[in-house]
Amino acid sequence: MPETSVPRPPVLSYTEWDPLEEVVVGSVDGAVVPPWDSTLRVTMSPRSWPFLREHGGRPFPREWIDAGRRDLDGLVHLLEAEGVTVRRPDPVDFSRPYATPEWESASGLYAAMPRDLLMVVGDEILEAPMSWRSRYFEVHAFRELVKGYFLRGARWTAAPRPQLSDALFRPLEEGEEDREEFRSLVTEFEPVFDTADFVRCGRDLFVQRSHVTNAFGIEWLRRHLGDAYRIHEIAVRDTHPMHIDATFMPLAPGKLLVNPERIGPLPEMFRTWDVLPAPPPSAPDDPTLCLCSAWVSMNVLMLDEERVVVERREEALIRKLKDWGFQPIPCRFDGFYPFGGSFHCATLDVRRRGELRSYF
Ligand code: ALA
Repeated sequence: MPETSVPRPPVLSYTEWDPLEEVVVGSVDGAVVPPWDSTLRVTMSPRSWPFLREHGGRPFPREWIDAGRRDLDGLVHLLEAEGVTVRRPDPVDFSRPYATPEWESASGLYAAMPRDLLMVVGDEILEAPMSWRSRYFEVHAFRELVKGYFLRGARWTAAPRPQLSDALFRPLEEGEEDREEFRSLVTEFEPVFDTADFVRCGRDLFVQRSHVTNAFGIEWLRRHLGDAYRIHEIAVRDTHPMHIDATFMPLAPGKLLVNPERIGPLPEMFRTWDVLPAPPPSAPDDPTLCLCSAWVSMNVLMLDEERVVVERREEALIRKLKDWGFQPIPCRFDGFYPFGGSFHCATLDVRRRGELRSYF
């Protein structure tokens, strides 16, 4: 009997670990260093401020772009060899300035991190209301892909377009970088979030409040997703939080990778899970890590419940992952790090084989 072919929905993903079928991989082509402002001051290490101040609004150095592109191409090759369909964003000139009636930005940023601005929940693809002015139009690089998914049957939603007026940003004080308690840069003026502050475990999603994600944004998503999903806020010890995926990474049912320096008390629901502390990063805390910390070591991408793409130099993590029963697939990616993330940030899993379930 010939196999009956039931067409697969173009967009369908509930977890970080169901078998991966299709993924968007970002691009560093045309990437521009974000213009210097308070969003960078609160999220980036003072060691990178001189670079950001000097280069803000100008293209990333040529050799960084070349190294980033080389590593992204390597990742694409690896994913395709593992049978995953890979899609890429459109080229965009991020160096063009733009303005709204309330503010202007000297440039955009890049299309390197689809995780930051798009999220798949079930058969829906959702655009984030991002708070960085330099990222206001970033989603345009992904719109041909999103329109294509919609035309093939996906649900497509954009969260309310934020105004990003000055009222969204708390004025910073002297010595702000030495603050010991997290105090978000963004106010509750309007809903904002980056989708990279969320991770998905079936019916349960986890989020951290950050300098780009406010309570209003979390409530918007909670109400939008409705009763089928529960959103839980995770307590983190991080004065510079921006994106949960170098802090809290569910790898498989019952297995949670955590950043031991940042994770706070976990919700009671994790009592039956193995909580796996990531070893300290092997990669040096290099000055080119200007948009993230070395903890992007734990920013891994699951191909299924066992296969995990991990940076080849992270030998301690690779050993641990093997001990924990995973199959690490080492991949070179340090040339991409200067853009602010690793495999999870650089990808958006559009389709994974799996069903909506509760894992708790
Ligand atoms: N912003 C996160 C970090 O640098 C990804 O650790």
